Amino acid sequence: MNLLEVKDLRKVLVSTETSVPVLQGVNLNLQAGERVALIGPSGCGKSTLLNLLAGLEKADGGSIHFDGKEVGALSRTQLAQLRRRELGVVFQFFNLFPSLTLLDNLLLPGLLDRRPLSQLRGRAQDLLNQVGLRDKSSARANELSGGELQRAAICRALLPRPKLLLADEPTGSLDSENRGRIYELLRTLSQESGSSVLMVTHDPEAAAWMDRGLLMRDGKVEPC
Ligand SMILES: Nc1ncnc2c1ncn2[C@@H]1O[C@H](COP(=O)(O)OP(=O)(O)O)[C@@H](O)[C@H]1O
Ligand SMILES: [Mg+2]
Repeated sequence: MNLLEVKDLRKVLVSTETSVPVLQGVNLNLQAGERVALIGPSGCGKSTLLNLLAGLEKADGGSIHFDGKEVGALSRTQLAQLRRRELGVVFQFFNLFPSLTLLDNLLLPGLLDRRPLSQLRGRAQDLLNQVGLRDKSSARANELSGGELQRAAICRALLPRPKLLLADEPTGSLDSENRGRIYELLRTLSQESGSSVLMVTHDPEAAAWMDRGLLMRDGKVEPC
């Protein structure tokens, strides 16, 4: 069974002057354990697709099945729970709380989910060690560099060992050497967490680091 099954997904983005049919029948399947890079130029609809998959926006047509559940049919509470437990999201602009420490940023979602602090803390420290941020765990997020925030956001998303990690341009502003490092990190950490990955990026090189690549073009997704 597929972990993720997207069928004929459609989304029109409407602003005051225009309406843009961004997703025009996206089909895509992901098996449990698979790591996939979804590549496409800026503005082609990658973030829109991730927002729909994470249940942050509603589709105008089609369906998303995640682990047997129809995402479009879940309530807000169910979606919030899904994002805390089963679906990790690394946003393009990290969305860490700037005045909280790195460790607290990692702990917060699990605390909201009423999970035991000692268990959360152990896992958080373990992840921070693995990405070379052990010494920064009590620094505030607004004191960290872009690359450090990027790694921290990946740790936060993988902390609950989600079934699927969605990552939106996790290497957006990095040079090619550092991009490679982040891809490598995503691969090894997701393997360790037992998480599948759907990573969207405009970097055509990214597919080489994942199990396979997909291309987003004209509002649709095809193998590449
Ligand atoms: N709120 C919005 N209203 C209208 N158009 C939007 C809105 N947000 C994004 N768009 C447009 O939709 C298209 C897809 O955006 P996006 O999903 O962010 O692309 P990507 O992540 O691939 O760069 C772009 O052309 C963008 O300008
Ligand atoms: Mg985007």
